Amino acid sequence: MRKAVFISGKGSNLKALIDANPNDDFFIYSNQKCDGLLWAKKRGFFTKTVSLKNTNDWKSFLQEVKNLRFSVIYLLGFMRLVPDFFLKNCGCECINIHPSFLPHFKGLGALKESYTNKKGMGCTLHIVDSKVDEGVVLFQKNLDRHRILDLDAFKLRVHAFEQKLVTTHFRLKKGLCR
Ligand code: GRF
Repeated sequence: MRKAVFISGKGSNLKALIDANPNDDFFIYSNQKCDGLLWAKKRGFFTKTVSLKNTNDWKSFLQEVKNLRFSVIYLLGFMRLVPDFFLKNCGCECINIHPSFLPHFKGLGALKESYTNKKGMGCTLHIVDSKVDEGVVLFQKNLDRHRILDLDAFKLRVHAFEQKLVTTHFRLKKGLCR
């Protein structure tokens, strides 16, 4: 089972996924140079920065992804909209982690907005479709009833649950592909 992870930043979800599955290999892509990619490179994983600024960029990336025949692609803090033609032709599910209890607070800034509004707090793992943060929900954690924390502690809690959802999904996926 070949799997890819797309990231754009720190890569804390990626690190948690790798740490929980030390014997698994992952192909890691980013649309920009970032800490998560450097970390993964040092750990010996396949890493690549791909320019994804226009349709042609996405088309050539799609070709590469198709050739590798991934079983799953995780978007873990990947800050780019994935075009519909990529989703339809990449040959596997793309799965995204989002830092709110969807359908509350789609798009950017979700964690802070949910914290400010004291609703929709949590995280959601969902299948990616052409609309922003709207695909089928796979797992969710609601934190609305949790003790109110300061924003930094709340962020840590959301990230901890995000990592739990991602690693749980991967464990199940691996079981199914065996
Ligand atoms: C996560 O909160 C994710 O939900 C959001 O971006 C953050 C990524 O963090 N889309 P990291 O790169 O995994 O540290």
